Amino acid sequence: MVLLATRSTVGKKAVMAVTGIVLVLFLVAHMLGNLKVFVGAESFDHYAHWLRTIGTPVLPESWYLWIQRLVLTACVVAHIWAATVLAMRARRARPVRYAHRRPVQGSYAARTMRWGGVIIALFVVYHILDLTTGHLNPVGDREHPYGNVLADFAPERWYVTLFYVLAVVSLGFHLRHGLFSALRTLGQRTTTGERRARAASLGFAVALCAGFLSVPLAVTLGLVN
Ligand code: HEM
Repeated sequence: MVLLATRSTVGKKAVMAVTGIVLVLFLVAHMLGNLKVFVGAESFDHYAHWLRTIGTPVLPESWYLWIQRLVLTACVVAHIWAATVLAMRARRARPVRYAHRRPVQGSYAARTMRWGGVIIALFVVYHILDLTTGHLNPVGDREHPYGNVLADFAPERWYVTLFYVLAVVSLGFHLRHGLFSALRTLGQRTTTGERRARAASLGFAVALCAGFLSVPLAVTLGLVN
């Protein structure tokens, strides 16, 4: 059944939607957790430690975190796989390009999604080496992530903050379009329906980006120390 669903175009769109929803839920939880930086070092470090204890004593320490990592990795792989197959299928459906091809909104959005996705994927690799493993962090103390965040976005490392801003803005564009497509598929195909879907996607993307950006910007501007 699942195999059959993944073979059809609709099935692949469903794979994109379900994996997208799981990734968005993670992002919302992660963004809200990050805001603990504004409460203070103790609160933030305590929260990071608590993440490792979720599921105990039923599961050994850190097992939940590893399960979450596996699920997120599977979702990212499936999301990229479905997107690639759908894009290749769309291209095969029109092997000869339009002679007078005017840049339409659809192709612009598709290009933004592709390159946005690549930037986000590269960012996540950098981000894990920076704030999870600590290899690219000036402090890299796994027991005290608050100190790592402060060292990371210190004013003299403004270029790291800039990179984070670019990545989060790319994520915002990606989310806005992804959400809008999903809502349009599910909702009414009326002008009002489309307008509402557009507003909801934009509002959600802006709120999530603002939450994420508040942390690096506040540290670089010296509002958190
Ligand atoms: C822009 C502000 C962000 C800050 C300040 C931030 C901060 C952090 C910190 C401190 C950790 C390590 C937690 C720990 O090991 O205790 C972490 C892990 C992580 N972050 Fe972020 N993050 C941000 C944005 C993002 C974004 C936009 C994404 C995804 C697109 C993301 C994805 C992840 C992932 C996948 C992990 C690894 C979780 C794990 O250990 O399993 N983060 N982040």
